[in-house]
Amino acid sequence: MRIVLLGAPGSGKGTQAQRLVQRFGLPQVSTGDLLRSAVARGTTYGLQARAAMDAGQLVADEIVLGIIRERLAEADAARGYVLDGFPRNAAQARALAAMLKAIDRPLDAVVLFNVPYGEIVKRIAGRRSCPKCGAVYNIHDVPAGSVLRCSNGADHPALVQRPDDNEATVAMRLDVYEKQTRPLIEHYAGLGLLRAIDANAPPDVVTSRLIGALLRPAKKQRAAKKPVAKKKAAKKKSPRKPAARRKAAVKRKVAARRKVAAKRKAVKRKVVKRQVVRRVKRAAAKLSRAVKRAVRKRH
Ligand code: AP5
Repeated sequence: MRIVLLGAPGSGKGTQAQRLVQRFGLPQVSTGDLLRSAVARGTTYGLQARAAMDAGQLVADEIVLGIIRERLAEADAARGYVLDGFPRNAAQARALAAMLKAIDRPLDAVVLFNVPYGEIVKRIAGRRSCPKCGAVYNIHDVPAGSVLRCSNGADHPALVQRPDDNEATVAMRLDVYEKQTRPLIEHYAGLGLLRAIDANAPPDVVTSRLIGALLRPAKKQRAAKKPVAKKKAAKKKSPRKPAARRKAAVKRKVAARRKVAAKRKAVKRKVVKRQVVRRVKRAAAKLSRAVKRAVRKRH
């Protein structure tokens, strides 16, 4: 199985990749871990990558692609792998596709981790890792005041915070994700490979959602996108054809307008009638006063 875990920094890709390693026996290939190891060993790649990593920027594609090519060529990757943090931009996605096409081993799935930014910032701020084995923990998961030590052995030192887990670098990493990595969602959705999961839940719940998404046949997902169901529902609503519906709507509008005009006419007629009656009454009264005055004069 060849899987890509896609998501913002701190969305839990590394944590879940570890769980897939245990469940399926596939190696986790994390470009972040590979680069951090290169930096720690002071290799040429590491020296070149360090400045970009400290600034929260992406490391140059040539370096990352060089590292990934070497790693995927190792024996344990022959059966498959979990790519964590790679690809991270369109050029890397294209390079990966070309690499896999050359060996006729395409990707099986790309899983997107959806987590709101507020939760991401909280997770990154609380992340601590073991400098000896790389195990990842979070201060929010341990009781307040307890000493943060790695549970993988008594000889493991105290946990440390990653140098790029500071406020300014995290803001830059999120910005880089939005601009360069997020467009890959559409890219992989277009290829029918994307399976999105709500990763804003406890780790065990996310693991079952992840495994569920991986076991779900991709065909079903693609079929769900077809607007067939919508079309049927629209047909059920009214058996009339669109042209007939339009004609009927026009007829209804004309009839309504006529009704309003007729009402207005009737009101107008009533008003005129009242005015005429008033005028006639006034004229009659005038006439009767004039007659009375004439009679008085005679006598
Ligand atoms: P990288 O190491 O890949 O960092 P990232 O993508 O920023 O991802 P993170 O490791 O921060 O987070 P994650 O999603 O793995 O979350 P995690 O499981 O640790 O890259 C670092 C740098 O290297 C980059 O900035 C770049 O410079 C360079 N780089 C790497 N790849 C590159 C590439 N392809 N191209 C160019 N440059 C590259 O979880 C985070 C915390 O949350 C942990 O404390 C964890 O315990 C906790 N947590 C996990 N899941 C949950 C949960 N469900 N609920 C609560 N807490 C949880």
